[in-house]
Amino acid sequence: MTVHFIGAGPGAADLITLRARDLIAAAPVCLYAGSLVPAALLDHCPPGARIINTAPMSLDEIVDEIARAHTVGHDVARLHSGDLSIWSAMGEQLRRLRALGIPFDVTPGVPAFAAAAAALEAELTLPGIAQSLVLTRTPGRASAMPAAETMKAFAATGATLAIHLSIHRLPEIVAALTPSHGANCPVAIVWRASWPDQRIVRGTLATIEAVAAGGPERTALILVGRVLGAQDFAESSLYAPDYDRRFRPRSVASRFAGESK
Ligand SMILES: C[S@@+](CC[C@H](N)C(=O)[O-])C[C@H]1O[C@@H](n2cnc3c(N)ncnc32)[C@H](O)[C@@H]1O
Repeated sequence: MTVHFIGAGPGAADLITLRARDLIAAAPVCLYAGSLVPAALLDHCPPGARIINTAPMSLDEIVDEIARAHTVGHDVARLHSGDLSIWSAMGEQLRRLRALGIPFDVTPGVPAFAAAAAALEAELTLPGIAQSLVLTRTPGRASAMPAAETMKAFAATGATLAIHLSIHRLPEIVAALTPSHGANCPVAIVWRASWPDQRIVRGTLATIEAVAAGGPERTALILVGRVLGAQDFAESSLYAPDYDRRFRPRSVASRFAGESK
């Protein structure tokens, strides 16, 4: 018996891995975080599967459900939105399962920031503009932020920011970022990336509050950075005609000659 923690992707039912689909199809028990996991993924569950929405449950109740499956030897597919490495609450479940000696494995998923970038047709790391992406959030009712992880501190680097769980704090974000990024810094907001009702607005730190006014207060990513909409950036050296590299030695004298196979 194994508990399969599965990244269920950002919303579109076909944005899961083949491994995820097959694990769901083979598990007699499926626990899913119903607030963001698309119901269509449950169509992969086998007939007669025990399917439980964990959105209204406590951690104790979730672990009890897993322990019951463990007792009768049933595999569990545990679905969380996006990828499991960020804001999935997987860490606390794994700690409980380790303590109980219940086996598990982890299958990654498409994170929401990647779906939002795809919706914007944007590369978030452009040569000479930004080479880092900060995945962050503002404090929430359930989660305080470590003292040093402030929006201003991240902004000081000029890195592209993907701000999660924070659409209701847009004015505060704009105020924190404007001094470092400048009022004309591009901002995009993607609500429900990859869902049928996906919505996008674009603006700058000066305009985004007005442009986004009246939008939903949930399930949005705020992307901030000069990479958005940038056209004036260098091409990467990797594909430059004269760039000598292992997979494309430029001459017989190249240190990579003979290594490309
Ligand atoms: C609890 S976190 C889950 C993040 C998830 N584990 C991931 O890998 O993206 C929920 C937040 O992720 C973002 N999010 C999740 N799905 C989204 C989507 N389809 N479109 C835009 N933002 C999304 C929103 O900021 C939302 O408040």
